Amino acid sequence: MKTKTYKPSVAFLRQATIKNPEAEYKKAAKDYLKYWESAAKELEWGKPWKKVLDDSKPPFYKWFVGAKGNIVQNAIDRHLANGNKNKVALLWESDSGQHKKFTYAELDQAVCRLANGLKSLGIKKGDRVAIYLQNIPEAAIAMLACAKIGAIHGIVYAGFAAHSLREWIELTEPKLLITQDAGIRRGKRYSMKPTADEAVKGLKCVKNMLVVHHSKIDVPMVKGRDISYHDLVDKMSPKCETEMLDSEDPLFILYNSGTASKPKGMVHVHGGYQVQIHRTFNWVFDVKPNDVFWSTADPGWITGHSYTIYAPLMAGVTTLLFEGVPNYPKPDRIWEIIDKYKVNILYTAPTLLRMLMGEGDQWVKKHSLKSLRILGSVGEPINPAAWKWYYTVVGKKRCPIIDTWWQTETGAHMIVPLPTLPLKPGSATKPFPGIFAEVVDHDGKKVKDGERGLLVITKPWPAMARTFYKAEKYFKETYFKRFPGKYLTLDVAMRDKDGYFWALGRADDVLKIAGHRIGTAEIEAAIAHHPAVMEVAVIGKPHKIKGESAKAFVVLKKGFVGSDEISDGIKKKIRSEMGPVAVTDEIEYINKLPKNRNGKVMRRVLKAKELGQKLEDVVVFD
Ligand code: WT7
Repeated sequence: MKTKTYKPSVAFLRQATIKNPEAEYKKAAKDYLKYWESAAKELEWGKPWKKVLDDSKPPFYKWFVGAKGNIVQNAIDRHLANGNKNKVALLWESDSGQHKKFTYAELDQAVCRLANGLKSLGIKKGDRVAIYLQNIPEAAIAMLACAKIGAIHGIVYAGFAAHSLREWIELTEPKLLITQDAGIRRGKRYSMKPTADEAVKGLKCVKNMLVVHHSKIDVPMVKGRDISYHDLVDKMSPKCETEMLDSEDPLFILYNSGTASKPKGMVHVHGGYQVQIHRTFNWVFDVKPNDVFWSTADPGWITGHSYTIYAPLMAGVTTLLFEGVPNYPKPDRIWEIIDKYKVNILYTAPTLLRMLMGEGDQWVKKHSLKSLRILGSVGEPINPAAWKWYYTVVGKKRCPIIDTWWQTETGAHMIVPLPTLPLKPGSATKPFPGIFAEVVDHDGKKVKDGERGLLVITKPWPAMARTFYKAEKYFKETYFKRFPGKYLTLDVAMRDKDGYFWALGRADDVLKIAGHRIGTAEIEAAIAHHPAVMEVAVIGKPHKIKGESAKAFVVLKKGFVGSDEISDGIKKKIRSEMGPVAVTDEIEYINKLPKNRNGKVMRRVLKAKELGQKLEDVVVFD
């Protein structure tokens, strides 16, 4: 494949920390356990490890075995002693343009108060706490407070509807749900507390609901169960000891869309996770001590966990949280914020870039953007046109584009450039030092360079998810059964002659709509709840801005005829059960779904027909 490569500018190279990436790949490959051990030594621990990796029970790997510590020790505590105390840790810009700041010392106090509050509610190590909050400082504070005392946080994206939140609560059985009265977006309020009330109705596990009165609207509070956030924390002490945990103790469980109709919870732990997010963050974004870092990802997603909250705080830089949307009130809101806070590193998603690109270059050109040094992309393949626009119009050819391939499962960056590597638009370049990937065929044999196949990771890595909560067997079967000893990413990829990887999309029945990973099975389950529906199959179609959009093929029960009314009803069902991102753009009524001999619906047949492809042209991996 002939693609232009983009070399780093002389000015960028001069200031870069890692000037010779190839040397780092080699060094890490020589002894990868030693490499990860040296990364771990950059952090503070309560007690050192006895062994770097325990691989005696694959695929349940353990890292930094025997070590004690806590991610909060590195994200906050050490900054109180190392001169970062008065540096801004968290910057928050509201939808309407107000801002709030927390220095590391202030963040520590807020986290300690809430941690003490959690303890006063009986939350202990190992207890789950569900968090249903928008992108507000309390979301970060809640995560850190849970981590500090060894409670396990489980965040549900604020855009999800009551049904999804309820499924999550049924799965993780939290004692406490932290939510807010209402969220604000595009100047409009949308209530969240009533959604939370509906989600917990009749469930016994949730003993308390902590409510952040963020929008200051009246919401019904259930006596004996609901507590105002400030009523609780204001009377608590701003000092709280950070619990020393085992490095394999869970830090969070995160909602994960897959091929099952019910979502699963990915379990991530304190030790290995913090090592890999720290190392990747520092190297990939070439972080400098006074950087202002802005990841537009909501804390409800893995990017929000790893790179909006934890990694920037561990690095002791300033992280920016933004409540609103990048094109409100005007299409240049995102560029305005970059100039306002002098953002150095921007980390965002291709779907957003395509949308902003569509607004026209004039909106970008109104702003200087000269503080920017590095531009990151995450969530789906970045098409070369968007890459070049990002590079030229936003970055003025000064800033490397860092295309980061990874997953909720991987916890941290996996295939990603070191910023002084020559870049190719559309490729996430090479596996990070200490990470090993291959492209294989159906039998697990490596394919030739230039050929497509399945992307696998061939060695364990520190930040890998340890399991699915309460579903170990399903975890093993999904990712490790097909090629024992190797992790199946479920992505189709190609490796070129230079050893660069090109992630080409999902091989399973999972869509990527506007960067959100949504299982076709989850949408189908919601549609099937409509009383007129007998059977349904959902497929993804390429979409100019969203990357993919969902189309549903519906077979109706006897006596029903497809109509706009039924379609509206179906869309309403999806919206109320899953939230707006999952709503199908198109619904087509058909008499019968194509099925194989085992009765499995062949979505790829529907897809090939829809896209006018011959079935032979469709990559089939099942
Ligand atoms: C899936 C994982 C990574 C955190 C946010 C999404 C796709 C992600 C890229 C990229 C091509 C990408 C893959 C992957 N994906 N980043 N840079 N290039 N594809 O996490 O929701 O768990 O989704 O997103 O298909 O498997 P996620």
